[in-house]
Amino acid sequence: MTFLIAVAGKGGVGKSTVSALLVRSLSHKGTMLAVDADPNSNLGQKLGTDVPGTIGGVREGLLSKQGQLPRDMSKQEYLKIKLKQILAEGDTFDLLTMGRPEGPGCYCYVNNLLRVFVDQLMDSYDHVVIDNEAGMEHLSRRTSKSMDLLVLVSDPTQVGVGTAVRLSDLADELDLKVGRKLLLINGVRPGDEDRASALAETSGLPFHLLHDDDIVRKASFSGTPLKGDEPLANELDDIIPSLFPSSRRRAG
Ligand SMILES: Nc1ncnc2c1ncn2[C@@H]1O[C@H](COP(=O)(O)OP(=O)(O)OP(=O)(O)O)[C@@H](O)[C@H]1O
Ligand SMILES: [Mg+2]
Repeated sequence: MTFLIAVAGKGGVGKSTVSALLVRSLSHKGTMLAVDADPNSNLGQKLGTDVPGTIGGVREGLLSKQGQLPRDMSKQEYLKIKLKQILAEGDTFDLLTMGRPEGPGCYCYVNNLLRVFVDQLMDSYDHVVIDNEAGMEHLSRRTSKSMDLLVLVSDPTQVGVGTAVRLSDLADELDLKVGRKLLLINGVRPGDEDRASALAETSGLPFHLLHDDDIVRKASFSGTPLKGDEPLANELDDIIPSLFPSSRRRAG
């Protein structure tokens, strides 16, 4: 059974950082697919993985080839082959990059096919982590799968937590199927824990605090991938068992 985690939140609060570290950590616990669903893709860079192509590129490629596919090749076959080519296959995880969303025009048939393929692909992994753009509106168009866990990342500010709550409500309004929700207050400075916790309490969501991490920030400055041994990674490791339902924890 695939366990799907979607990561969402306000711009710049650490969604991709948290996603990359979740990927690093969970990739030791089974097969892992990382999905970069932000058109401004940078999960590959945070994971140190080259991105051979994007779903958006595959869609554009097919549309520009209308009528020029080899005679014996259906659109389905073409898309299946291309999807395999753009999947970055690593030692401990694979990475799928969504790229640009569809532009105006009727791409419904192609999009539906792609969604079916992406859903099937996700089904073949133990864990899937989806790093989203700041909004979540595109998510339901990209997969019809239900999320086991929606991780809402916020900075320790009222605006960040307010956005997390709005996204949580939006998930309900969009009828996204979400198992559980968790708020992560990221970038808390030492001494600010009580204030951050009080802020998190106002959301009504279960939450954890993650501290400001100089090593993570420096990695970003230099464009160095996250290795998974940073203090922030260790903090996330500690809360990983609580991400899963207790039945699964007992099963190991
Ligand atoms: N706990 C932390 N301590 C220090 N720096 C952090 C921490 N978490 C994230 N950062 C830094 O904050 C910046 C934004 O992080 P990140 O790119 O993960 O945010 P994002 O929410 O994915 O942004 P976007 O909305 O642009 O996709 C990066 O420079 C990252 O290194
Ligand atoms: Mg990001």
